[in-house]
Amino acid sequence: SEAINALLPGRKIDVLPVIGSTNQHLLDKIGQLSSGDACVAEYQYAGRGRRGRQWVSPFGRNLYLSLYWRLEQGPAAAIGLSLVVGIVLAETLHELGATGVKVKWPNDLYLEDKKLAGILVELQGKTGDAAHVIIGIGINLTMENTSTDQIGQQWINLEQSGIRIDRNTLAAAFINHLIDALHLFEKSGLTPFIERWYAFDNYLNREVKLIIGEREVVGVSRGINGQGALLLDQFGEVTPYIGGEISLRGI
Ligand code: BTN
Repeated sequence: SEAINALLPGRKIDVLPVIGSTNQHLLDKIGQLSSGDACVAEYQYAGRGRRGRQWVSPFGRNLYLSLYWRLEQGPAAAIGLSLVVGIVLAETLHELGATGVKVKWPNDLYLEDKKLAGILVELQGKTGDAAHVIIGIGINLTMENTSTDQIGQQWINLEQSGIRIDRNTLAAAFINHLIDALHLFEKSGLTPFIERWYAFDNYLNREVKLIIGEREVVGVSRGINGQGALLLDQFGEVTPYIGGEISLRGI
């Protein structure tokens, strides 16, 4: 609700009752935005997930939030940025009492081995120019009656695991932490975040399967490197896998 603006004096957060997608809303306004401008919605009728999937967005029960950032160094500098967003969201949730929350490479949040939140980073801008970055997050708070089929995977909300966090408090804390992290990321890249990733990695030292198009690779996850690639250990030989079209499953 509008209460979020009271929690973030000096910031501009658009509160939208209904919108197609909060990411699209910001994409449509890129010329008018400054870094840190954000919007939240109660309901999205065309919520977007990664890889062209939909993001199921029932009214009033979850958090749908997007934030704009102008990345002076250009689109190439955005590599690893979505991992930073995941780390910051996990840290914020921990701070507010959701201590079981984990990150799943490259950009999901998991709780009890089920999907709790998703991150969609969309970029505009050509090489040589500043990049316009739209960071979108969707977190299941009290969503119910939505089938696994509709979501396409096992999901959970915070309430099911006994955690109640006020939406505005969560949104405000996340925005503050995210802006701090984006400044640090611009200055120092992914390096200062690697240890923070390890603290929340759901699959660290667990056996996983990577699905790369038609191909499947099995190994033990050893976290990430400085490019945000997943480190996969196969009988002692560690290979980095760069994100994009790869999906990770626990086995
Ligand atoms: C995924 O896991 O596939 C990413 C989901 C991202 C969903 C959020 S909800 C707010 C923002 N607006 C959108 O349309 N998508 C993101």
